[in-house]
Amino acid sequence: MIAKTEEDFSGLKEIGKIVGSIRDELVERTIPGITTKELDDLAGNLFEKAGAVSAPKGEYDFPGYTCISVNEEVAHGIPGSRVIKGGDLVNIDVSGSKNGYFADTGISFVVGEGEEILTTICNVAKKAFEEGLKKVKPGAKKSGIGKAVFQTAKENGLTVIKNLTGHGIGRNIHEAPDHIYNYNDTWDNELLKDGMVIAFEPFISTLEEEVFQKDDGWTYATEKSFVAQIEHTIIITKNGPIIVTL
Ligand code: CO
Ligand code: CO
Repeated sequence: MIAKTEEDFSGLKEIGKIVGSIRDELVERTIPGITTKELDDLAGNLFEKAGAVSAPKGEYDFPGYTCISVNEEVAHGIPGSRVIKGGDLVNIDVSGSKNGYFADTGISFVVGEGEEILTTICNVAKKAFEEGLKKVKPGAKKSGIGKAVFQTAKENGLTVIKNLTGHGIGRNIHEAPDHIYNYNDTWDNELLKDGMVIAFEPFISTLEEEVFQKDDGWTYATEKSFVAQIEHTIIITKNGPIIVTL
């Protein structure tokens, strides 16, 4: 969407704050021994308390309130009986709506002490987000964001997932612009606009550049890579980007 009115800005900020706080609460509760279903149930309670609706459940009939992906799983992991262990790489992605406004956020992190490479990819994802964010300006090429993400990955001896992308958001969970790539798509001439709302989500990978979908019809995974993501919902303005999911 293009945010124009005061109501647009406050509606986006409200749902941004809700999904951001659910994300933080779930990260804090991710300790060895807990199942991903237990974490998701907590998210369900928090959504209800906030008067908000989970986007994956409400829009896509996803079997969970949040997407929780562990180790070889990259995105859209289904909460279930999987028990979190120390050293696991976990991604928690929380998106939802309230009063017709949507926000989407996610983070990858290591539970306790893990292999060094896992911490590295999480840190590079953060760095890639920061570098991409510098390109988020009205009138700038959308592809500049992905270019910065890919460059950051490459500088660190890593790569990106090319078939998972950021997206427009605001009045729907996924809307125009359809794709914000994590590499420089030279065919992409679209320009960013004042008020445009995007979910920017770099995926940094140790090796592979594509995820495949598991037989459950939801989960995206890799064969032999680890992948870290950071995602925030951003309103693009002349006065700088407003991150509503901090
Ligand atoms: Co997300
Ligand atoms: Co998203």
